Amino acid sequence: MTDRYAVIGNPVGHSKSPWIHAEFARATRQDMEYVRIEAPLDGFERTVEDFRNAGGRGANVTLPFKEAACRHSTELSAAARLAQAVNTLVLEPSGIRGDNTDGSGLLRDLSVNLDFPIRGRTILVLGAGGATRGILGPLAGAGAAGIVVANRTVAKARDLVHRIGFPTLEACGFEALAGRTFDLLINATSTGLTGEAIGIPPAIFRKGALAYELVYGRETEFLALARAAGAVTSDGIGMLVEQAADSFRLWRGLRPDTGGVIAALRRA
Ligand code: ATR
Repeated sequence: MTDRYAVIGNPVGHSKSPWIHAEFARATRQDMEYVRIEAPLDGFERTVEDFRNAGGRGANVTLPFKEAACRHSTELSAAARLAQAVNTLVLEPSGIRGDNTDGSGLLRDLSVNLDFPIRGRTILVLGAGGATRGILGPLAGAGAAGIVVANRTVAKARDLVHRIGFPTLEACGFEALAGRTFDLLINATSTGLTGEAIGIPPAIFRKGALAYELVYGRETEFLALARAAGAVTSDGIGMLVEQAADSFRLWRGLRPDTGGVIAALRRA
């Protein structure tokens, strides 16, 4: 019988995950199907249980259910526990394993696709919401020289940094960024999605730095500021595909090649 997988979110119609996983399945000759499921905002747990009872073997979880998926898991990976959010569920008769591949996907995109290993680098992460929570633990564990988490609401950055508890982490507000520069700057605020102004000092970008926008497929203020300053820029399409490949490996035990899928999405 064909193994069943899904991406669960609300809304979920825009998700590229079904296409990405269909490509992975074809390339690795896996007998599986992968569908979109829109769960009611108050019905995530029920949706997961219905899918599991109908033979579902695994699911990706997207907004706004990553925290609910964390609570619903009976076993958590270290990455999921640090993030307090789950983007990958492994559905088993005995229980539900929750993992989070957002951080590992970002690290892989940086180190392999963009040839930017982060060991020894200085990093700025903008934002202290769900997106930052997903990536901060793995980033901190990868040997950066220092990671500054800057947020409009400073207390949120402080709480997050305190909870992750790595000595290389520091929290501040945007005004404290004046006069500082970084090797890698990551926009994990929701401004990439909403189009709101972000309010960072443009001088934080310098020539040759890498500016990474977690959102993909659109020009954002963050990317425009970075480019104007001569920084190298990337959107999050590589991270999207790499986190999918890490989910696929959790389910199927093998990691598909990602280069062709990333190139196809960039062309689309
Ligand atoms: P949540 O905080 O509920 O997890 P989120 O969408 O995951 O929500 O996080 C949004 C992030 O983008 C937050 O860091 C938010 O900053 P605040 O914590 O100060 O709200 C940030 N953000 C949203 N709009 C912004 C803006 N216009 N300028 C700068 N940062 C913004």
